[in-house]
Parts: sequence; C-alpha cells; structure tokens
Amino acid sequence: MINKKIRINQPVIDEMEIEEVSKVLRTGMLTTWHGSGEKVSEFERSFASYIGVEYAIAVNSGTAALHTALAACGIGHGDEVIIPAMTFVATANVVLIQGAKPVFVDVDPETLCMDPEKFQNAITENTKAVIPVHVYGCSAEMDAIMDIAEDKGLIVIEDAAQAHGTLYKDKKTGSIGHMGCFSFFASKNMTTGEGGIITTNDAEYARRCRLFRTHGQEEAHMAVMPGLNYRMTEFEAAIGLVQLSKLDKLNAIRARNAEILSKYLKNIPSIITPTFPSYIKPSHYVYTIRVRGGPKKSRDALQKYLVENGIEAAIYWPNPVHLHPLYMGLYGYQRGSLPVSEEASDEVLSLPVHPKVSIDDLHYIVEKIVEFFAGDF
Ligand SMILES: Cc1ncc(COP(=O)(O)O)c(C=O)c1O
Repeated sequence: MINKKIRINQPVIDEMEIEEVSKVLRTGMLTTWHGSGEKVSEFERSFASYIGVEYAIAVNSGTAALHTALAACGIGHGDEVIIPAMTFVATANVVLIQGAKPVFVDVDPETLCMDPEKFQNAITENTKAVIPVHVYGCSAEMDAIMDIAEDKGLIVIEDAAQAHGTLYKDKKTGSIGHMGCFSFFASKNMTTGEGGIITTNDAEYARRCRLFRTHGQEEAHMAVMPGLNYRMTEFEAAIGLVQLSKLDKLNAIRARNAEILSKYLKNIPSIITPTFPSYIKPSHYVYTIRVRGGPKKSRDALQKYLVENGIEAAIYWPNPVHLHPLYMGLYGYQRGSLPVSEEASDEVLSLPVHPKVSIDDLHYIVEKIVEFFAGDF
C-alpha cells in the first residue's frame, strides 16, 4: 500500500490568502454588478503592471477570458480562427460558441506550440484571428507569428492559460499579441480557485471586454452590446493579489525542480526531456517528457506505474483537439491530419514540478522512472 501522493499540481495557499479573503468577507461587498469592484480593480492594475500592458480585465475563468477576447474583437459567423491542435478543448470551443470556425494547425516538435509556417499555410480570406497557445509554461514562437499576422491583418489572441510569468525574448507572454488570456484555475501557477484575465494595450478592446463580462451594460440596465456574466468576485481578486505577489518566487522553485528532473532523466534512452529555445524562459506549469519506450514500456504503462506508486503523472492531452469527436464530426478531421500533434499526444507525459514537490519527492519520481525502465539500459 503506497501512502505517498504527489499531485500533478497543487495551489500554494497560506495564511495571507486566508486573511485577505476574510477581510473581504467581513466588508459584506462580495461582488458588484459591473465587475469592477475595489479588489478586482486593484488586482487588474497589479496584473497589468506585472505583465507589462496598459489594461487587464478580470473574469471568472480562462475560458471566459478567451470568449470575451473573441467577442471584444468581433469574431463571429463566417470567420475562421487558427489554433494549434495541442491545446485544451476550451481554446476551440469558444471559437465555435462565437459562431466562427476553428481551423487546427500542427505544432513545433520541440515546444509543442503552434508552428508558424503551418499557421501561415492555413490562412484563407476568411481568417480573422489566430490563437497561439503557450503550452506547459513555454511560449509560442511569437515574433514569427506576429510578423505573419501583421502582414495579413489578423488579430492575435495569446492563450497564456499555462504561462504566468513566461518570458519570450524578455517580454512576458500575454503582452505580445493584441490580447492575452490567462486562467487562474486551481492547478495553475497562480490561482483564484476559478478565474481568468485578459491583458491588452488596446483601450477599445479593454472597454469591450469590460462590457462583455457584464451583459454588455455600460450603465445598469442599459445594454449596448451582447454579453454574459463573466465577473470575478471581490474575494477571488483578493486571493489573486496575494498569489501574484508570490508568483516569481514560486516559479523559481518550479524551475529548480525541473532542472533536477532533467539532470537525472536526460540520460534514460526511452525518454526525451523538455528543452526550450534559449530566448524563452518557461514558467514550468508542468514538466513534460516524451516516452519512446516501445510497446512493453509505453507511455501509458509508465503513467500507470507512476500513478500506482503515488505519483500523479498526467497526459496533456491524450487527444489533440482536432481528433475530438465534435471536431472530427464537424470538419472531417482524421488521424493523420496533423501528424506532429498526434505523435506528441501518444508520447507526452507530464510530471509534477510545482512548489510543493520536495527534493525527496523529485528523487522518488526519478527512482520510480528508473525502476520502470530497469534492464533496458
Ligand atoms: C491552454 C488552456 N486554455 C484554456 C484553458 C481554460 O481555462 P479555465 O479552465 O480557467 O476555463 C485552460 C485551462 O485549463 C488551458 O490549459
């Protein structure tokens, strides 16, 4: 019987968050009809300053952030939005919900983020926007993506749900495209429980995002555009402020943990450890290896072995989004349509590197992986 339980991700919540939430609860002001209460506004200012943009608009999930960004720039029926197939299904669903068509493209084999050339080749006269996704805390190749988008007049919405504090050529992810979207789901590098935020330097996009998150109302009961209730609560913003103040410190622990895993895992022949272009400083949301162990020592067998031994190794994602039944049915995608993403989905395995993973835990993870492949090398 294994007592150990190393979770794939775990929030770091201490007395500071509890105290700040309690203070908000005691005021009795838990939220506002417009979503711009005192704590939410303070959180927005702090997050915008951290990312290095003019505006941030807090909402109640990363999905809501993506949906709001699309609505703010008028994506709708007849439009195509290019997205990488290696992402969480939310990136595609928000496009579909807006009445537009998600067009999936393949990814770069090293970073598993969108391949700029594949993006360029997928552009048609109906393409209106592109959503590069910064997976596992890495960054997409933003210079190339921005050049292509600018040339074709396309809107760039960064999906930075997994990339809080990631640097691309010294710029924070979420500050490079026209808008950036973050998630504060409990598994993320910083959390508000559920939550999200849009970052932008464009005053008009910011205004429309604010309207969309509260039923399109400029004044109460005076809607000027369609919208939904995507407001963040005051106590979630209070958690966010504390979490943001700890983010860089916690990301540094993730980086150290990732370095330790790489040191010990990089010589195992059946494993490819993650590498990053020199100009990207990842935030290490998870540590994702690729397993090429053959049928007997497959990725799935390794995952099972680790889970049985109390290590919550996880697969992000077992199916690239174009192979979800929804998108195969709608657009006729099949296995073979996007081979780099499909091969990656068969091989990736994410290991925990969050700040609550101790050095002993890291050695235990390595020990179990070595044990699994014992005799192979
Ligand atoms: C890449 C990506 N995009 C979007 C989302 C959606 O964020 P949320 O779960 O906060 O709605 C996630 C969340 O897991 C994600 O990983």
